[in-house]
Amino acid sequence: MKDRFGRDITYLRISVTDRCNLRCVYCMPKEGVPTLPHGEILRFEEITEVAKKAVSMGVFKIRLTGGEPLVRRGVPALVRMLRDIPGVRDLAMTTNGILLCEFAQQLADAGLMRVNISLDTLRPERFFEITRGGELKQVLAGIEAARKSGLLPVKLNCVVAKSVDEPDAHEVSEFGREQDLEVRFIKQMDSASGTFSVVVGGAGGDCPRCNRIRLSANGLVRPCLFADIGFGVRELGPEEALRRAVLHKPEAGGPCSHNWIRAMGG
Ligand code: 5AD
Ligand code: SF4
Repeated sequence: MKDRFGRDITYLRISVTDRCNLRCVYCMPKEGVPTLPHGEILRFEEITEVAKKAVSMGVFKIRLTGGEPLVRRGVPALVRMLRDIPGVRDLAMTTNGILLCEFAQQLADAGLMRVNISLDTLRPERFFEITRGGELKQVLAGIEAARKSGLLPVKLNCVVAKSVDEPDAHEVSEFGREQDLEVRFIKQMDSASGTFSVVVGGAGGDCPRCNRIRLSANGLVRPCLFADIGFGVRELGPEEALRRAVLHKPEAGGPCSHNWIRAMGG
């Protein structure tokens, strides 16, 4: 389905939970944030209905995000439900990797094709600082597990404060080369000021070429990470919510009040 600016919407990002097992400094305050009430979170059947409708309207790429998608119970079952939708050509997940060691094989068996794993630094103490308590070695084990399970290509997402010349980014880049993993660099974004830029090595942040819409964990179809608009699938039904989101997709993102980056997994 084309939007008002001729962009073909082919990519649906689905946030399966607003919760996370880390507290990255650029994403959350240290005390965390209030989480959605259980009843507001879409059930897997509801998510699958939205995905089916989206695919019938031209979407062929689906990515699961969060929060951290793997903290939601039973995610491999959801993967299977999405995998069974005819017309899904790409089914991926963005994860912080902490739980991948445990889930990689189940996810692959369920039909997940590939993963993007967040990795901002290779120094354990820096990782601990940035994530407020995360263990780097769990992520490294997760990367290995993803590779062994055939969730390929494994890509790394590296958030940089200002530029790709920062030492942490250099080390991640080097690691990517050694391990033959694609690395993309995401400049730290800020919703309040509408600050975002093009992902280096990836496709995000490029408004004229943006082909995405997003489904939040509580059932809003959101046309842009940097706009305060969303259309409820429970109120409107999946088709109307999707249609309105595409119709109202802004030409470009701008400042907005809510930190959608956290709730929508970037
Ligand atoms: N700026 C840039 N990237 C962010 N992410 C979360 N918050 C921000 C932010 N403010 C990233 C995570 C992960 C992806 C899901 O989104 O690091 O790579
Ligand atoms: Fe969790 Fe990702 Fe936010 Fe870090 S950036 S706290 S891993 S949702």
